[in-house]
Amino acid sequence: MVNLDNVIIRGFQTLDERASAARLMMKTDPWKTFGRSYEQCLDAVSNPQKESYGAFCGENLSGLLVIDLTGPMKGYLQAVCVDESARGGGLGSKLIRFAEERVFSVSPNCFLCYSDFNSSVRPIYEHLGYEEVGVLREYMIPGHNEILMRKTIGPVMRFRGKGS
Ligand SMILES: CC(C)(COP(=O)(O)OP(=O)(O)OC[C@H]1O[C@@H](n2cnc3c(N)ncnc32)[C@H](O)[C@@H]1OP(=O)(O)O)[C@@H](O)C(=O)NCCC(=O)NCCS
Repeated sequence: MVNLDNVIIRGFQTLDERASAARLMMKTDPWKTFGRSYEQCLDAVSNPQKESYGAFCGENLSGLLVIDLTGPMKGYLQAVCVDESARGGGLGSKLIRFAEERVFSVSPNCFLCYSDFNSSVRPIYEHLGYEEVGVLREYMIPGHNEILMRKTIGPVMRFRGKGS
């Protein structure tokens, strides 16, 4: 378990850090079941059009976050992941709250998906204020659906953040 007081969430600074993040993703569901390769995971945490962050305890990477702040789904948490050994201690909340702070500075909606084969994460998201808004049938792999969830701080037309 990590001591949250020692965790810093920050952007990746080196290729080694991105490589650690790619390895973490690759061994974790949903990406494992999607069959994501190391190279694909590395791309996911290196895409300059998205924002990628690691949760570091010293030099150790315990979690990661990829946020998409562009396009029609502005404010999409593309990936949130905590190393299995660090789960259940509040790191997931810390990452998601960090992401929300970033998203809600530019948009009143924060979106994320979970895969139906990974439904144990749903109560966590509900607890954090997300509600189901749709089902993307067989969106990633055959035979499985992605469940789209949203947390909102109000209608778009009333939003007074950056870029509104
Ligand atoms: C989802 C994930 C990031 C959560 O990380 P975590 O470190 O275990 O989460 P936390 O311990 O911070 O718990 C998150 C919150 O949910 C609450 N919670 C945990 N289990 C819960 C449950 N079964 N029911 C309701 N609330 C629950 C916690 O109390 C906490 O809320 P709090 O901060 O108000 O106390 C982690 O399970 C993970 O990496 N899963 C694999 C990757 C994945 O599936 N990502 C989602 C797809 S992108």
